[in-house]
Amino acid sequence: MAYRNFSLEQLQAIDAAHHLHPFTDHKDLRQAGTRMIARAEGAFVYDVDGNEILDGMAGLWCVNVGYGRKELADAAYQQLQELPYYNSFFRCSTPTPTLLSRRLAAIAPEGMSQIFYGSSGSEANDTALRLVRHYWALEGKPEKNLIVSRRMAYHGSTIAGTSLGGMPAMHGQLHGAVPGIIHVMPPYAFEHALAGESDHDFGIRAARAVEAAILEAGADKVAAFIGEPIQGAGGVKIPPASYWPEIQRICEKYDVLLMLDEVITGYGRTGEWFAAQSMGIRPDTMTTAKGLTSGYQPLSALFVGDRVAATLVDKGGEFYHGYTYSGHPVACAVALANLDIIEGEGLIERVREETGPYLRKALSEAVSGHALVGEVRGYGMLAAVEIVKDRQTRERFANPGSAGTVVRDHAVAGGLMVRATGDTMIMSPPLIWTREIVDMAVERFSRALDAAEKDLRRD
Ligand SMILES: Cc1ncc(COP(=O)(O)O)c(C=O)c1O
Repeated sequence: MAYRNFSLEQLQAIDAAHHLHPFTDHKDLRQAGTRMIARAEGAFVYDVDGNEILDGMAGLWCVNVGYGRKELADAAYQQLQELPYYNSFFRCSTPTPTLLSRRLAAIAPEGMSQIFYGSSGSEANDTALRLVRHYWALEGKPEKNLIVSRRMAYHGSTIAGTSLGGMPAMHGQLHGAVPGIIHVMPPYAFEHALAGESDHDFGIRAARAVEAAILEAGADKVAAFIGEPIQGAGGVKIPPASYWPEIQRICEKYDVLLMLDEVITGYGRTGEWFAAQSMGIRPDTMTTAKGLTSGYQPLSALFVGDRVAATLVDKGGEFYHGYTYSGHPVACAVALANLDIIEGEGLIERVREETGPYLRKALSEAVSGHALVGEVRGYGMLAAVEIVKDRQTRERFANPGSAGTVVRDHAVAGGLMVRATGDTMIMSPPLIWTREIVDMAVERFSRALDAAEKDLRRD
């Protein structure tokens, strides 16, 4: 490998000189230097000095089948040799996106059998936004174009993705969001439930915030509601079981389309192919990416429900939208091989019946009594731990996010990659984790909490 001719210090210096990173304070980064990950195998990543880190984030919520899968490398290599690229514009197609579409339709939630490809979750959400507005225009209702979303939603980092999302800091840098997007409260009981309010009642109340927004705007003006089944980057916020059925009822009552963003939850993470199936949601569009190729190639698939697809086909007229890499043959070949692994190794059943429940139980038993922990929650291979100063009152530490950073830095130094969203610690491991690896992760996380507590109480 070319990098082997360089020392860590040299690589860091070159990186600092030329590489602008995503979601980064570049001044800070240049002082601190980058953590250079050089290779990976199974559940572990290794930095250029050979230090091993257990990857509790599956890269960036995406490496569902783990690292080092030769089948995926072979699929890419064969496709690169046969047909590295051709487009899907102008009445052309290539075999791999064609066959992948059939495969995806077979595992999709009922009534979703059409697929539109892009290279990222952000692109797929741009497509979804344009498509639902196009749908209502084709239906003769172009004024039905508002979208209801939630605060702390993450739908990507393009202008449309950021506008759909509900991250205040990101909106602060937009200087003009895509118009017509309304944000309501997230279903986040830990911070928003009232004293004595049951989980069920909170879920209904949070869903009714969507209804209130529809009524205020007028149902004839609202095109769709968009939501992640579990808000991921916003802090693995798992809604109460009452939330999604109530959202579904509201969408149906007011004829508002339901856009589901399964970029994180798709491809087995919740113990079914999609969270729509785990939670009984019937979406009109469903955005997926990440786990579709386990991150081995950039690829997104927007599933389009039969209602929207029928209008596109019946009414006709060109939908002026698409990407050079829509249906990229190499990415689609890797996706097909990746789906074979997920299915062939029974990873979804394993998450549903074994490792998902075990991760939640083991983490909860190990740390829910810790002085820094306000709540532990989990769903499939997703978990979150709320860091607080006072367990009883749920008071946070001063400087929001600083306690989370301290815990994260101790975890990484102790060989476990986790992420902090503010003061919520989050985990989204590869689906290949075994009970033994869960135990290792939980032990490393507990040690990080102990070390962080010493630092935080001293300060
Ligand atoms: C729910 C959700 N939607 C969309 C995106 C954007 O995906 P990408 O980074 O591939 O553009 C992400 C990325 O984390 C996500 O979590």
